This record gives sequence, C-alpha cells and structure tokens, in this order.
Amino acid sequence: MPPVSLDLIARNLVAPGKGILAADESLPTIEKRFKTIAIPPTEENRRAYRETLFTTPGLGEFISGAILFDETLRQKSGDGILFPAILGRQGIIPGIKVDLGTTALANFPGEKITLGLDGLRERLHEYRELGARFTKWRAVIAIAGDLPTLTCIKANALKLAMFAARSQEAGLVPIVEPEILMDGTHTLARCEEVTNLTLRAVFDALLAHRGRLEGMLLKPAMVLPGTACPHQVSDEEIATATLRCLRRGVPAAVPGIVFLSGGQSPPQATARLAAIHRAGEAPWALSFSFGRALQEPALAAWRGKSENTGAAQAALLDGARKNGAAVRTRVGT
Ligand code: 13P
Repeated sequence: MPPVSLDLIARNLVAPGKGILAADESLPTIEKRFKTIAIPPTEENRRAYRETLFTTPGLGEFISGAILFDETLRQKSGDGILFPAILGRQGIIPGIKVDLGTTALANFPGEKITLGLDGLRERLHEYRELGARFTKWRAVIAIAGDLPTLTCIKANALKLAMFAARSQEAGLVPIVEPEILMDGTHTLARCEEVTNLTLRAVFDALLAHRGRLEGMLLKPAMVLPGTACPHQVSDEEIATATLRCLRRGVPAAVPGIVFLSGGQSPPQATARLAAIHRAGEAPWALSFSFGRALQEPALAAWRGKSENTGAAQAALLDGARKNGAAVRTRVGT
C-alpha cells in the first residue's frame, strides 16, 4: 500500500469530533470486566456484548475506529455478518490489537516487556485480509521507587518501533501505545519526567527503524499523579503538564494523539480531555481511544441481557457524544 494511503487512514482516525473505541480486551481482561456484572466469559457472551457495542445506531458520528481482539475480528453478528463489515456500515474503521500481552522483564523485578513480534508478519497479512486497517501494540511502564529503568523503557520502545515498521509494511496504520500506569504514590512531576523519557526513547526507536511518522498514531496516558499520591491536582494542572510533555516529545509530523483512559472514571477522562484542548494550541489532532471510560456505563447497563441492548447502546452513544464534544473544544474555535 502506498504510504499516502496509510497517512489518510491515520488522519481519518482523528477526524474532527471523533475518537476511537478500544474494544480489544484479551480473554483474561474481558473475563475480569464480565465478573463486574456476574456474566460467564463464554465466547457467545463476548460476541453478544461486542455486537451490542458495534451496532449502536449513530455511533459512527463520534467514533472513527474500533480496536478489536483477534477473536472479535473473526466473529459475526446474529444475522451472520462479520464484525469488520458491521463496523464498516457505520463508517467505523476496524483495527486490531496485535501484541500478545506482557511478561516479566528478566533481571528487572517489577518491570514488563510486551510479547508478540514472532510470527507478526504473517498475522498482519491475515488481519488485513479480514478487514483490519490499523493495529495497536501496548507497552506498559510502571512508576515505583527507582522504576522505571532506562533498560525497560528502551526495550519496550524498540519493540514498539519494530511493531510499527511491520504494520506499515503490511499497509496497516500502527497505534503506538506506551502506557505509563497510574498506579502508585508518584507525583504529577514524576509522571511527567517518566513520560518525557519514554516519548524520547519511543520516537528515537521509531526514527531509527525508519517508521513513517505521518502514517501512525500515538496512544499515551495523560500525565497524572499516581492514584495513591497524597497530592492530587486539578484537571487544568493535568492538562498543562500533559500538553507540555507531548509538545516536547512528539514530532509535529505525527497526525494524531489518542489518549487511553487507563482507569480514570468516564467523567474524569472526558473532563481532562476537554481541559487538554483548552490548554493551548497543538500541532497534532488530540483525541481519545478509550476502553473502560467508554465501555463501563454500557457494560453496567447491558448486564448480559438482550432486553438491555437499547440501554447499553444509549449509554455508549452518550459517552461517545460527550468525548466527541470534548475534542471539539479547541482553543479559538
Ligand atoms: P483504557 O482506556 O481502558 O485504558 O483502554 C485503552 C486501551 O486500549 C488499553 O490498551
């Protein structure tokens, strides 16, 4: 695929007033989510839940793309239509999580490295045939005491860059996700420092591997104090730190930055997204790629019952609309 097509997909994923629905929970993660509503994690329940989300009437007005898990990309609606086609009808671009989760980084207690490069070229080819047009790889960086180490940051950055290069080679837009976890007692300033270091390592690696910055998106966490930090701060302070950090670390050639929600409540994530937009001008589109912050209200309304489909869809649409409005809040507009 010519690079210009990659660029176009990347730009379409951050079209004005739109963001991404992350619905790519792995089997253990969706099991954890279903536990909160006491639903058994059967394949049929996972399929029915995802069908409920993807067939929400009007979702395409606020959602540009949806990230799926391997199983979901191959599943069908009740009337036999593959989910990528169901999404396509709504004008939503299908994407796929391609990493295989994390494992302990040897010799670095408390740190993790993401798995999934082996056999990735073949999987990417198949995902494209199945209708995916973009991919996601999540690296996890924890803050605690002296952690993270530079070794952990650089090892994860290298794998993100190799994933991105392989995706672009396969004609798929990579979403590069270096998630700084919000668990811990660290301050906002410490999170900013770690985010700065991480962004520098990620973009060094992307450029070293000849990644095309115009044909990718970055998916970072917002810069936040740890959830157990005694000094919590205002949305405006979070927005200022986040925008400052991104301006320092993300080249203007990148078309868009889509935040993960990372465990923030849905109203918090939306309020902070809006605050980041109010904090000043930015060279890239700034939007969302929320999982929990978009899905929690929908999951709670659904409860595994088909008679709750309408309520679940109304909850999802409401969240999508609010986040879509948050990313319309641009300075000077
Ligand atoms: P959350 O918004 O729930 O953090 O999920 C986004 C995501 O895709 C994590 O990999």
